[in-house]
Amino acid sequence: MNRLPKHIAIIMDGNGRWAKKQNQPRVFGHKNGVKSVREVSEAAAELGVEYLTLYAFSTENWSRPKLEVSALMSLLVETIRKEVSTLMENNIRLKAIGDLGKLPDRTLEALREGIEITQNNSRMTLILALNYSARWEILAAAKKLHWDATKGLDTEKLTEEIFSQYLTTHDIPDPELLVRTSGEQRISNFLLWQIAYTELYFTETFWPDFRKKDLYEAIINFQNRERRFGKISEQLA
Ligand code: IPE
Ligand code: IPE
Ligand code: MG
Repeated sequence: MNRLPKHIAIIMDGNGRWAKKQNQPRVFGHKNGVKSVREVSEAAAELGVEYLTLYAFSTENWSRPKLEVSALMSLLVETIRKEVSTLMENNIRLKAIGDLGKLPDRTLEALREGIEITQNNSRMTLILALNYSARWEILAAAKKLHWDATKGLDTEKLTEEIFSQYLTTHDIPDPELLVRTSGEQRISNFLLWQIAYTELYFTETFWPDFRKKDLYEAIINFQNRERRFGKISEQLA
């Protein structure tokens, strides 16, 4: 328990293939992925993980068939509305990162409501990455910085810590562990700045099959690694 990651990020992948495997439409996979979200949020909170970030929709996902995109947006509204009570019971605070202003009004409204209702919860923060992409985030940070520079900010004195303050994750520590389900081994434009030293864990399990025990396995795998941060083993003892 003393080597528990404070922040776990998850790329929830494989919903479509999970559905296809059983001759169902892709949306069936997304619907079944909600149970995994509930299980994993609960498991993380029970363990004492402080931050859990879930990649739910990337800026690239707008390129999917219209029907799938609108089904995902409706599912989000439905899920947030339905799960607010579970979040309250588990003392979980909801947050979101991404280009939220471009989400459909109904989705944004449900999201804002969920965030407001749960704002004083303190056991764990659940962060949904929605219309998120890391390059969008870094570029947006650069634009804000440029603006502040015209207002007198001394960019010569810029540090990594200050730059981090311009990211949507400014109040969230970097994840120690990043999990991706479904067997794909790529980052897909997720948290590029923040995962500089994150441990990566890939599992073949499709997201709708991901349960508490799968999260425990990922954490145990993480705990058996040596995080050297550029040093050598002998220096870590
Ligand atoms: C992840 O599952 C959910 C989202 C990206 C919204 P996918 O929908 O990507 O499922 P696969 O990768 O096609 O199986
Ligand atoms: C990444 O999954 C985005 C989310 C999980 C929300 P994708 O399924 O969209 O990723 P790629 O396009 O296969 O890399
Ligand atoms: Mg996918």
